[in-house]
Amino acid sequence: MTEKKILNFGAGPAKLPQEVLKQVQGELLDYHGEGISILETSHRSKVYSNINDGAQRKIRDLLSIPENFKILFLQGGGTGQFASIPLNLIGKTGKADYIVTGNWSRLAAKEAEQYGQVNYVLPESKRFVGHPPRDQWKFSPDASYVYYCDNETVYGVEFPEPPETKGVPLVADMSSNFLTRPIDFTKFGAIFAGAQKNIGPAGVTVVIVREDLLGNALPVCPTVLNYSIMARDNSLHNTPPVFSVYVMDLVFDWIKRQGGLKEMHQRSKIKSEAIYNAMIASKGFYSCPVQSESRSRINIPFRIEASTPEKQTELEEKFLAQAQVKGMIQLKGHRSVGGIRASLYNAVGVEDAQALADFMLNFYKEANN
Ligand SMILES: Cc1ncc(COP(=O)(O)O)c(C=O)c1O
Repeated sequence: MTEKKILNFGAGPAKLPQEVLKQVQGELLDYHGEGISILETSHRSKVYSNINDGAQRKIRDLLSIPENFKILFLQGGGTGQFASIPLNLIGKTGKADYIVTGNWSRLAAKEAEQYGQVNYVLPESKRFVGHPPRDQWKFSPDASYVYYCDNETVYGVEFPEPPETKGVPLVADMSSNFLTRPIDFTKFGAIFAGAQKNIGPAGVTVVIVREDLLGNALPVCPTVLNYSIMARDNSLHNTPPVFSVYVMDLVFDWIKRQGGLKEMHQRSKIKSEAIYNAMIASKGFYSCPVQSESRSRINIPFRIEASTPEKQTELEEKFLAQAQVKGMIQLKGHRSVGGIRASLYNAVGVEDAQALADFMLNFYKEANN
């Protein structure tokens, strides 16, 4: 076991609260005196049923989810939901509006094209740096739903608030900013999030869907992707990802102990401001391409400016290597955009973000000496 403190800024699977990992370690071999591990426990047992129901209750409480929304714990990740959303929700008119602000919403739209007619609300773009002006948005009159990604993990583009859809059910991918701020459920038809960034290990995807939207799945919708069947069977139609749900349940407890979503929201602002402020203080040495009003609180991509691309690569590699020596890991930007990316999920502490901001400033000063 390494003695060095590791600050994990990975984009996912990402840092989990130490407290939670220690609890998992402590009860791994014998879950609550049952004499067996949770990994060996039947999903039909009372033990698991308590975890499944408890986790639903806790997330409902944390987010103040109204009673007319079902909470599902599914498999297949965010990518699975790119198919599940149209398979379950496009049936009403056969059409859906997609607001594409990055690669994840673009992939979701491509997947949906297999199941219905997709209208692209925004003009096509190759560089994702924010949200185009409202007068360029083109909604269709008869969409079954409007889809968007609340926080584009790769490009660091986050909606400051949900788009207005004038009554058309709004569907959000919140995989990378889920439980980092409160949600106004009056604005949503469905929300989904893979767990592996803010709320637990990979393997479980949370889906929160308004009851009146159920029952319209396309005939080709596979059983495991069918929200109505999964809701009817309390996410126990088939074997659920027992271990992932168990850890996620503990993370919900941890979030509550920390002060709930109000606190997570506050911390996310402090953490991201520390990094953005370091960029400002560097007077252009670090740059983030995203327009200021669309900058993510959670995933911050940035580059080091240099006179040539070779010099830029050299400086960024040096930055990553020196950060690694200081225990700051998984800071490499996504392979499609390059550069550096700091992911500041719930389990990443304010002091961790501050340490990174300090390192950025020191690195900048040394590079300019
Ligand atoms: C916003 C967002 N949506 C969807 C996905 C895809 O998730 P998965 O890898 O679980 O399919 C990711 C993965 O990082 C993501 O960040």
